[in-house]
Amino acid sequence: MNKTEKVQVAKVDTTSGEYEFHVLDGTLGPSVIDISSLYGDTGQFTYDPGFTSTASCESKITYIDGEKGILLYRGYPIDQLAEQSNFIETAYLLLNGELPSLNDYEEFERAITNHTMVHEQLRNFYYGFRSDAHPMAIMCGVVGALSAFYHDSTDINDPYQRMVAGRRLIAKMPTIAAMAFKFSLGQPFVYPDNELDYTANFLNMCFALPALKHKVSPTLARALDKIFILHADHEQNASTSTVRLASSSGANPFAAIAAGIACLWGPAHGGANEAALNMLMEIGTADKIPEFIKRAKDKNDPFRLMGFGHRVYKNYDPRAKVMQQTCHEVLAELGIKDDPLLEVALELEKIALNDDYFVEKQLYPNIDFYSGITLKAMGFPTTMFTALFALARTVGWVAQWNEMIEDPSQRIGRPRQLYTGYAERTYKKRSER
Ligand code: ACO
Repeated sequence: MNKTEKVQVAKVDTTSGEYEFHVLDGTLGPSVIDISSLYGDTGQFTYDPGFTSTASCESKITYIDGEKGILLYRGYPIDQLAEQSNFIETAYLLLNGELPSLNDYEEFERAITNHTMVHEQLRNFYYGFRSDAHPMAIMCGVVGALSAFYHDSTDINDPYQRMVAGRRLIAKMPTIAAMAFKFSLGQPFVYPDNELDYTANFLNMCFALPALKHKVSPTLARALDKIFILHADHEQNASTSTVRLASSSGANPFAAIAAGIACLWGPAHGGANEAALNMLMEIGTADKIPEFIKRAKDKNDPFRLMGFGHRVYKNYDPRAKVMQQTCHEVLAELGIKDDPLLEVALELEKIALNDDYFVEKQLYPNIDFYSGITLKAMGFPTTMFTALFALARTVGWVAQWNEMIEDPSQRIGRPRQLYTGYAERTYKKRSER
């Protein structure tokens, strides 16, 4: 399955004449007009702030149909993977393109398990942060610092080193995130336990104490594993594009993933689940909802309903459906009945889905709408939400990074601009200004 070049061409009228460009077809989704020769042919650039009409690469990993609310990892629907697969198998699928055989699965799981410990000296990095540091600030720093510890997997031209770097990142991310959590609590770090699976091990590193053993609930571990699957990849979103752009210069994978973490932190991207929960807490009770809906619709008020809307989904986010069900499972397991936040969330969703403003603008709940309530019920503070997202998305970042390095058509990313600043002018001495 490669891109096919249509004989059909797109004709573009420019100020310098009419030019023809090839149209490329993918397996699914809109075809693209290959304008890579546009500047050479016409001396003009395209203008597309936010890249809303631009395909930056060819990819075989993830497909989204935002109109229909479809998300496929390597062709498999997200709900099937969330229900029937697990995070490790999904990671293998995203990285390698196919579901693993039993042997391949065992080898991959063993390799990830064997890489979960971090260099002992990496612990010292944590003590350089203030105890109230945001876990994402710690993650940016510590993940970037990995390149100083694992020199033997920074040669991006060596496929073996790339594989090792990818496995190290996926394996160490839970340990790094759990250490950030423990540090914020003033509790000792908990070492990984190879007896536990990927997600149970993460929960144990977060909630065990030397003085008090922690028994990981299989239901909660399964629920979190599902959440990780839902967040594992999402094609060319802002943080993934950041990873691709950062590594297009030849930067090492640890540095490139640290750049992705920095981008993910923003409230319009990965930080939205934290913002969505804060908003639900601010609303507090269902009777306050109309007031917040009114604010969200007011053009002069910067307030937006967090957890609503998506650049690509103009239908119900398929991940939000799984997330809503997972949320109910977690609250049931923890015996949380009549959770006021869930009540506000359900009511808000009902009102917004029937409100003309949200209907016309096709603003549906996104994955972040329910993930905050679920993670809070599990015992995570809001500041950890984006760190958990980063942990899961590392798989997608690594898969996309590998795909980019292996793609011979990829070059250093270098967008152009429409310059609207001063034309050339002459410098005046300070005394003459
Ligand atoms: N509440 C109220 N109005 C909204 C919302 C919202 N959550 N989202 C979009 N709108 C309105 C905009 O004001 C705009 O109105 P206009 O056409 O009258 O100017 C219109 O809907 C289109 O919105 P854009 O901002 O142009 O859409 P864009 O694709 O750029 O933004 C985004 C998508 C950033 C996700 C936006 O919907 C938003 O800010 N949502 C809240 C934050 C959030 O939940 N982010 C999580 C994204 S999912 C993820 O990262 C995993």
